[in-house]
Amino acid sequence: MNEKYKELFTSYKLANGVALKNRIVMAPMTHWSSNVDGTVTDAEIQYYGRRSKGVSMVITACTHVTANGQGFHGQFASHSDEFIPGLKRVADAIKEQGAKAILQIYHGGKMSPPELVPNGDIVSASDVPAESNGETGKTPRPLTEAEIEEIIDAYGEATRRAIEAGYDGVEIHGANGYLIQQFFSGHSNRREDRFGGTLEKRMAFPLAVVDKVKSVIEKYGDASFIVGYRFSPEEPEENGITMADTLVLVDALAEKGLDYLHVSLTDYSSTPHRGVEDLSKTRIEYLLEKINNRVPLIGVGSIYSAEDARKAFETGVPLIALGRELLIDPDWVQKVEEGNEEKIVTLLDKDKQEELAIPDPLWKAIMNTPGWVPGV
Ligand SMILES: Cc1cc2nc3c(=O)[nH]c(=O)nc-3n(C[C@H](O)[C@H](O)[C@H](O)COP(=O)(O)O)c2cc1C
Repeated sequence: MNEKYKELFTSYKLANGVALKNRIVMAPMTHWSSNVDGTVTDAEIQYYGRRSKGVSMVITACTHVTANGQGFHGQFASHSDEFIPGLKRVADAIKEQGAKAILQIYHGGKMSPPELVPNGDIVSASDVPAESNGETGKTPRPLTEAEIEEIIDAYGEATRRAIEAGYDGVEIHGANGYLIQQFFSGHSNRREDRFGGTLEKRMAFPLAVVDKVKSVIEKYGDASFIVGYRFSPEEPEENGITMADTLVLVDALAEKGLDYLHVSLTDYSSTPHRGVEDLSKTRIEYLLEKINNRVPLIGVGSIYSAEDARKAFETGVPLIALGRELLIDPDWVQKVEEGNEEKIVTLLDKDKQEELAIPDPLWKAIMNTPGWVPGV
C-alpha cells in the first residue's frame, strides 16, 4: 500500500466501542430492485455482496418503516415481521464479505409517489407539497399527533427487526427531504403543536425517533448495536433549513449517545449558502467544529480517486463514505489497499453491468439520468 493512504486503513472505534477495520464505508444507495411486495430479490443480494469486501461498513438503501412511507418503486420494506427473512439475507450478504451491515430506516412522507401508498394518502408534517424539477407533488395530509406517535413507534419496530435479522446497526435517515427532514424544516413544517412552531419544536420528531430507536436497542439489542443519524445541512426554500438550523440540530444529536452522524452532501468540500458568517468555510469544517469530537462524523460527496479520499480524510473526519464510486468500481478499497490505486476506474463502463452486479432498475435509472454517475 502506498504510504500516503495508510491512515485510511487504520481501524476506528465507534462511540459504542465497536471497531471498524478501516475508514471507508459504503454510502446508502436506493436500487429500485426489490419485489413489488417489498421483499428482497437475488439481484439485490448480488449487488451488496459485490461491494462489501473492502469497506468497513455498508449502509443499505433506505427501507420504509410503515406502508405509507414507501418513497420508491422496488424498495425493500421493514414495516412487518414478514420482511425479516429478506432483511436477513441482505445483512448476511454484507457480513459474509467482512463489512458491518447497517440498515437505513426511513419514511418518505410527502416525497412518496401516491401510487405506492395505501389509498394515495400522502402524509407529512403539514400540507406543503414536494417540489422537484419544477413539478409540484400531491398535497400531503398533515399527520395527527397520534399518527406521529405511531410512526415514531414504527422506527422502533424496524430497529427491532434489524436486530432480529442480524444487522450490526441502523441509520436513521433524517436527510434528503424525507419525513424526518420535513419535520425539521421550517418550510415543510407549519405546525403549531408540540411538533412545530419553533426550531426547538421542529426538532421534537427527529429527536423522538432517536430516543425510540435507542430504547428499542436497550430492550432487544446490546451495546454493540450501532446507531447513526443522517442529515442534510441545507434546503433552498426561503424558510427551509439553514446551516445555522443544522448546527443547532447537530449540537442536540451529539448529546444523544449516537455512534455516528452522517452528513448528506454531493460535494465533500461544499460551502454553506446561508445562516453562518463565513460562507467560504466548508460545511464539513462547520460541522466538525460544532461536534467537537463528541461523536464521529461520516463525510461524503464526489470522492472518486484515492487522492480525493486522502484529501477528504485530511480535513479531520474520521470516516468517509463512497457512493457512486462503489457503483463504478466495487473493488476501490482493495485496489488502494494493494497499492493499485492507479487501476481505480472513475467512469462507469457501460459494457460491464453484469460484472459490476448492478441490478437492471438501478442500471436503467443511471442510464436515463445523464450526468448523475460519471461516464454516463
Ligand atoms: C443511486 C443512488 C441512490 C441513493 N439512495 C440513497 C438512499 O437510499 N439513502 C441516502 O441517504 N442517500 C442516498 N443516496 C445518496 C448517497 O448516499 C450519497 O450521499 C451521494 O451519492 C453522494 O455521495 P457520492 O458522491 O459518493 O455518490 C443515493 C445516491 C445514489 C447515487
